[in-house]
Amino acid sequence: MAMNYSDKVMEHFTNPQNVGEIENASGCGTVGNAVCGDIMRVYLDIDENNVIRDAKFKTFGCGAAIATSSMATVLVKGKTVQEALEVTNKAVMEALDGLPPVKVHCSLLAEEAIHAALWDYAEKNGIVIEGLEKPV
Ligand code: FES
Ligand code: FES
Repeated sequence: MAMNYSDKVMEHFTNPQNVGEIENASGCGTVGNAVCGDIMRVYLDIDENNVIRDAKFKTFGCGAAIATSSMATVLVKGKTVQEALEVTNKAVMEALDGLPPVKVHCSLLAEEAIHAALWDYAEKNGIVIEGLEKPV
């Protein structure tokens, strides 16, 4: 393979954290890339103080998508819904010690799916998460 993945990417690809789904999730978001057909779904379990207790994901995507979702779900756990917005694809990539440039777009799926799940939660509970944009 010509592509160079960091050790952390390989670690999260070969042993991804938080794969699965959450029944009766507080928020759920599904996003896709219309061009390649890759899909990402994120489930969030959020407590009454707006703290993310648990996060799980499922994806039809490549190794980079799996690694970024794994890291993104690890990073949002224990954060408030507001703090979770700081888990951008840039932050996730940094935590993974980078991604090959052609794979950067894959990391967007994780951020978008988390945002969609947060939006779902906010809508269901009639709250506003400042800075969160409605998913397209
Ligand atoms: Fe499609 Fe990475 S998620 S190539
Ligand atoms: Fe589809 Fe990477 S090729 S998200």
